[in-house]
Amino acid sequence: MEQKKIFLLPGDGIGVEIMDEVRKFINYMKDELGLTLVYEEGLVGGAAYNRYGQPISEEDMQRALLADAVLLGAVGGPEWNEVAYDLRPEAGLLRLRKDLKLFANLRPAICYPALVHASSLRPELVEGLDMLIVRELTGGVYFGEPKTIVHLEKGRKRAIDTQVYDTYEIERIASLAFEIARTRRCQVTSIEKHNVMKTGLLWKEVVTAVHSACYQDVTLNHMLADTGSMELIRAPKQFDIILTDNLFGDLLSDMTAMLTGSLGMLPSASLGSYDETTGKRRAMYEPVHGSAPYIAGKGIANPIAMITSLAMCLRYSFCLNKEASDLEKAISAVLNDGLRTVDISSEGMQNVSTRVMGDAILEKFRKFSVG
Ligand code: IPM
Ligand code: MG
Repeated sequence: MEQKKIFLLPGDGIGVEIMDEVRKFINYMKDELGLTLVYEEGLVGGAAYNRYGQPISEEDMQRALLADAVLLGAVGGPEWNEVAYDLRPEAGLLRLRKDLKLFANLRPAICYPALVHASSLRPELVEGLDMLIVRELTGGVYFGEPKTIVHLEKGRKRAIDTQVYDTYEIERIASLAFEIARTRRCQVTSIEKHNVMKTGLLWKEVVTAVHSACYQDVTLNHMLADTGSMELIRAPKQFDIILTDNLFGDLLSDMTAMLTGSLGMLPSASLGSYDETTGKRRAMYEPVHGSAPYIAGKGIANPIAMITSLAMCLRYSFCLNKEASDLEKAISAVLNDGLRTVDISSEGMQNVSTRVMGDAILEKFRKFSVG
């Protein structure tokens, strides 16, 4: 059987601790379930900067390009605040997204029944929540040129970021959102700001055209980004799929995180197009949360977003659907048993460390995978 090559990039801060947990699952599936997984590890972010003077080395970029899937922990931290802008830890992550051409970022937000009380919203608003943010990931203001600070007269400066979208970029992300909608509740809400932005105008026009041409069986709604944010907090369960650009997707996905209880619960998948000859698509999986420097090294980070990112990897890159569902079931079971990392803890629950949470999930996963 063909080997499935995974490239692990733990990165910085809690990225390292949560990747330690994920490694146990990969080893278990490889050594005990006999799956043909192989993995290598590299450095990204501040860790790579400290070693190589750049946020990802050319060699690790090559390894990422050759892998079937990349698993990334998190990047960044105050240690690198003074580093040159182009060499900052985040630049390593953005380069991976851009060079691997991962234009589609899927950020599911599912509220586990055991966690309805961990959300900042009333339980009835989030109970049963199951939505997906489809965020465009290689365009928009993140990558648009010019992106610069120019020096004007009298010591004044001007900062410029450029929000730019081409038709093809909107078409491919919209098609993907509609395709996924067909496997869910067949509903897409497209979010932009056409009332003040030209990119919003084109976004709405192209999404509407893709919808009329191929996806009339899917319900399409449009919302302005400010209204959409309000609706997300007012009545989150109205959404099935939110389709949006790079910047709005960044903001809305952090908001969604709070609906599920904690940023520590949210996984993501970043996907490229299918290669016509190999039939494969490049992919990177990472938690939505960052490197959380204030808790790094304490062994208290929540590993669940990283573990569910592995589940997404099994499902989307390797078609290992049973293993992916078993992993998700294992997480639910551990939460039902009352185990909590500090970010999702509540009264009467048992607070555990990153490692104990990882081991408990692995224990359940063992039972489901052999049973
Ligand atoms: C995310 C993060 C990144 C982003 C940062 C770390 C560059 O916030 O994945 O949501 O802004 O995309
Ligand atoms: Mg973000």
